[in-house]
Amino acid sequence: MTTSRLKYGILAHPAVHSLSPAMFNATFKKLKIDASYKVFDIEPENFEKFAKEELRKLNGVSVSLPYKEKIIEFLDEIEEDARKIGAVNTVLNKDGRLFGFNTDFLGFIKTLKENASSLGSNLKGKKAIVLGAGGAARAIVYGLLKERVSVVILNRNLKNAERVSEDFGKQFSKEGLSAKILCFELEKFTEGKLKDFECDILVQTTSVWLTSGLDAKIVPDSYFKKLKNLKNKLVVFDIVYKPLITPLLKEAEENGCQIITGEKMLLNQAAEQFKIFTGKKAPKFFL
Ligand code: ATR
Repeated sequence: MTTSRLKYGILAHPAVHSLSPAMFNATFKKLKIDASYKVFDIEPENFEKFAKEELRKLNGVSVSLPYKEKIIEFLDEIEEDARKIGAVNTVLNKDGRLFGFNTDFLGFIKTLKENASSLGSNLKGKKAIVLGAGGAARAIVYGLLKERVSVVILNRNLKNAERVSEDFGKQFSKEGLSAKILCFELEKFTEGKLKDFECDILVQTTSVWLTSGLDAKIVPDSYFKKLKNLKNKLVVFDIVYKPLITPLLKEAEENGCQIITGEKMLLNQAAEQFKIFTGKKAPKFFL
């Protein structure tokens, strides 16, 4: 019996800078899996045609910006977590049926547990501040709430934060669980009382470094200095990986916080995708 070469790829726009093809192709080669992973950099005007005509010819795709939500209507089944988050970053073609998953929240929580030694592996009862309320923040807030962490979302535009809070508040209460979630305008971070913004975990999910440059400020001056006396070390996680040490992480580290860099989440979410695509655990070198 001859088996044909498995076909995977990343669907995004722009997709030229993606690290995924190198990661997946090296892993397929190493594990002697007859598969290829290509870049599908699809312009928005060609997206529908691609989703309808090309997607089913592939065995699986990673989905990135700006298609994580738009892809949903073209799939046959959406796994529960992805449905609740409202975004799919992994599509698996199983015998002609397209299944959607979200591995971003898994990658985030795994990275947090592996790297935040001061928090321990049980995050229940901890408090997190999440900066931002976009697509990436949604997966992260969902992951944190699922771990029973209470969340404060700070966002430039309060309405966007409230949308996330309302969605998840409703969902978790439907399951009989209370989701502890509050939101404020980012400005309040500077104006408000420091006590209101004490936390165990601070997660930076906005595109501030891209949109406002590396001189931008996302936390108030001397925030970290003032929190130095907290019982536990503050964990600061910036999910951006270009640059690896963002201005926020640099300041946090200088003030004795434990820092987590964004590429770890990227690798962990890709390892989860690898498992979905091949049914195999990603080898250590993948990470
Ligand atoms: P992603 O999917 O990467 O999260 P997104 O959905 O476009 O991208 O969300 C971008 C996030 O970064 C939003 O929370 C955005 O704030 P608004 O909702 O107010 O637009 C935030 N953001 C972008 N540039 C920012 C800046 N210069 N300062 C603060 N927040 C910024």
